[in-house]
Parts: sequence; structure tokens; C-alpha cells
Amino acid sequence: MSELLDFYKNKTVLVTGHTGFKGTWLTRILLTSGARVIGYSLKPPTNPSLFKMAGFEDYEKKDQLMNVIADIRDLSKLKESFDKYKPEIVFHLAAQPIVRDSYKNPVYTYETNVMGTVNVLECIRLTDSVRSSVIITTDKVYKNNEWIWGYREDEPLDGFDPYSNSKSCAELSVHSYKNSFFNEMDGSDGKRYCAVSTARAGNVIGGGDFANDRIIPDCVRAMENAVKSRKTEGVIAVRNPYSTRPYQHVLEPLAMYLTIAYKQWDDLSKSSYYNVGPDDVDCVTTGNLVDLFCKCWNDFGTNLAKAKWESHADPNGPHEANFLKLDSTKIKTMLGYKPRWHIAECMQKTVEFSKLFIESPESLPGEMDKEIKEFFRRL
Ligand SMILES: NC(=O)c1ccc[n+]([C@@H]2O[C@H](COP(=O)([O-])OP(=O)(O)OC[C@H]3O[C@@H](n4cnc5c(N)ncnc54)[C@H](O)[C@@H]3O)[C@@H](O)[C@H]2O)c1
Repeated sequence: MSELLDFYKNKTVLVTGHTGFKGTWLTRILLTSGARVIGYSLKPPTNPSLFKMAGFEDYEKKDQLMNVIADIRDLSKLKESFDKYKPEIVFHLAAQPIVRDSYKNPVYTYETNVMGTVNVLECIRLTDSVRSSVIITTDKVYKNNEWIWGYREDEPLDGFDPYSNSKSCAELSVHSYKNSFFNEMDGSDGKRYCAVSTARAGNVIGGGDFANDRIIPDCVRAMENAVKSRKTEGVIAVRNPYSTRPYQHVLEPLAMYLTIAYKQWDDLSKSSYYNVGPDDVDCVTTGNLVDLFCKCWNDFGTNLAKAKWESHADPNGPHEANFLKLDSTKIKTMLGYKPRWHIAECMQKTVEFSKLFIESPESLPGEMDKEIKEFFRRL
């Protein structure tokens, strides 16, 4: 096991949003590293769901995974879990994370993403056992000027749509809690030690995402329908083929969330605000990304339906930024971040995983462990 994963052995870690796409992968990494995990979330947000297929039953039976299904907006319920389980480390991922849904329900999005974050910060403040926490926001927190260069951590926070903006507000609430409370908790003169950072990651791809209105799940759904209805071809509808995004494999930001919590455990100077984006070569248009999906799918050498895509650009659709890149120099310099799987390799893994989902879903827990092992071997 790597030094990083070794650190988590026997630690008590609270993960909000553990039933979601990234949360399920993070929970699996922590459990296989020997951590005790308290998951706090609503039920899985999708059907099918990676959480339900991830084979966590054995961990629940031996009380290594505690599964609390509850709302992040409910402060007293959240505090109960902090009081009962006394976590040492907190990863906050629970959110309403879909831009289009935030246009349909902005109030719910703000309540969950802003007050949910404030509730987590408040529980961290009031729970002496917590020593290291990472609050997950997004690359969309910045005021988007459609620049061709990447945003840096000190650029203005002012996301355009309700999702992005709620995450900008979540960032600001962390700033206030740090200034008002956590910066003083530096372990000096008998004071408590408590390090809190935020992480702003780019769009993630990987196996097991089934969310609506995300491009890879749209590809997988189109191909699953084609395979199940025995068609020879699946056609993927692409809404924004010309928008450029920083794409990375889901394990890249998760490894960095784990690294941040580990490095700041004993060193408060590492507690900060971090971009976690891919290298420039992996910032591609959605059209390029789907080209790659189709190529990997069609080259994979099975007799499943062939993949192709069509543009379904909607000029009347809600506003989404055209161009978005992150500058990740800070986390590279301070924490040694080095993106490991470039986009072709990410897509290969995603397609392999998606084909397993269609053909033999019972093999997914083993596939997750295999990818985790392969990825962390490179750290
Ligand atoms: N997926 C991406 O490309 C991406 C990119 C950047 C940042 N992020 C951020 O990463 C985090 C996880 O994203 P994801 O893709 O796994 O999302 P997801 O929708 O798969 O999971 C969201 C999780 O939050 C929980 N949740 C939602 N509302 C809740 C509430 N009111 N109370 C308690 N739990 C609630 C859900 O039950 C689920 O466990 C989010 O904070 C998201 O904003 C995601």
C-alpha cells in the first residue's frame, strides 16, 4: 500500500455525499485502506447507482461502514452523527451538483450547497475530534471571463448559474470560518488543532457515473439502450459539442483530496484553497471527448453495438460557459500533484468499466479495487 493510503488505516473518516459517484469511489478507497467510514447522505441520487453496486454490505456488517441516510440541511441530525462517531477527518462532497437542475430549482441548490456547507463547518467547529477536513467545491466557482488560460486560486469567486454560484458562496463561507475560528486552532498553547481546505476540481469522468445531463453518462445510456434493444448502432446526442472543459479521471481529484487531508494533518501551512485540474492537453471540447469515447468503444473488440454521435446543440438552452480551464500550479508546487492518467487512458478505463456495467455488473467491486490499486501504485 502507498504511504498515503497507509495513513488512513484505522482513522475515523466522515464522508458526506458517500452515496454519489465521487463519494462511492472515495468510500471504497478509504474502506480498502482500513479506515472506518461514516457516510452521511441522502439515498443514491441515480438509478442505477454505483453505491448500490459497490459491494459495501460486508463492510457494513463488520461496522467498518456506517451508513447514515439524512439531509445535510438538517444541522441537528448532522451534529448527532459527529457526536456519536467522533470523526478525525471530514470530506464534504454532498451537493446538488448539476448545472441544469440548479436552473430548475435554485433555492434547493443554494440551501443544499451553501447551508449544507455551513452546517458541516459548524459541526467541525463544535467537534473536538476533527483534525483535518476538505470541503469539495468545483472549477466553476470563478467568475468566468471565457479566458483561454487557467483560473488561479486568488481570482474572483462569482459563478454564473445557481450551481456554480452556490459553490462560490460555499467557498466564501469556508473563508469566513477559517478567519473567524479555524486559523486560531493551530495546536499552540493547549489549543485544539484543526486544518480545513477547499478543493476546486475539474469535470471528472470514470466508470459508474449515472447522473443526468453529464456527457459520459449520456454516452453510456445511449449505448446501453442500443445494446439492450439489439441495435447495431447507438447514437449519442451531444448538447454542447464546442465547450471546452478540464476533464480528469475521478481518481485524480480523490487522490488529491486524500493528499490534502493527509498533508495538513500535522502542518497547518498546507491548509488552503486548491485547484485540482488536468494538464492543458486534457482540456478538450465535449465533441473531442465524445469522439474519444466512440473510438474506445468501437476499438474495444466486442460485438456490441457501434457508437457514433450527433450534435443536438440548443441555442435556447440555459447559459453554460464555453471555455473553462484551471491553473493547478499551486497544488503541484505545494503538494506534489502530478496528473497520472491522461485523457486517452481515462477514456479507456471508463469504457471498460461501462461495458462491465452492461455485461456483468457483479464484477464492478473487483474492477473498482483493480483500478484503485493500479492508480495508487503510481503515486
Ligand atoms: N462530477 C463532477 O464532474 C464534479 C466536478 C467538480 C466538482 N464536483 C463536486 O463533487 C461532489 C460530488 O459530486 P458527484 O458527481 O459525486 O455528485 P452526485 O450527484 O453523484 O452525488 C451527490 C451526493 O450528495 C448527496 N446529497 C445531495 N443532496 C443532499 C442533501 N440535501 N443532503 C444530504 N446529501 C445530499 C447525494 O445523496 C449524493 O450522495 C459535489 O460537491 C460536486 O459539486 C463534481
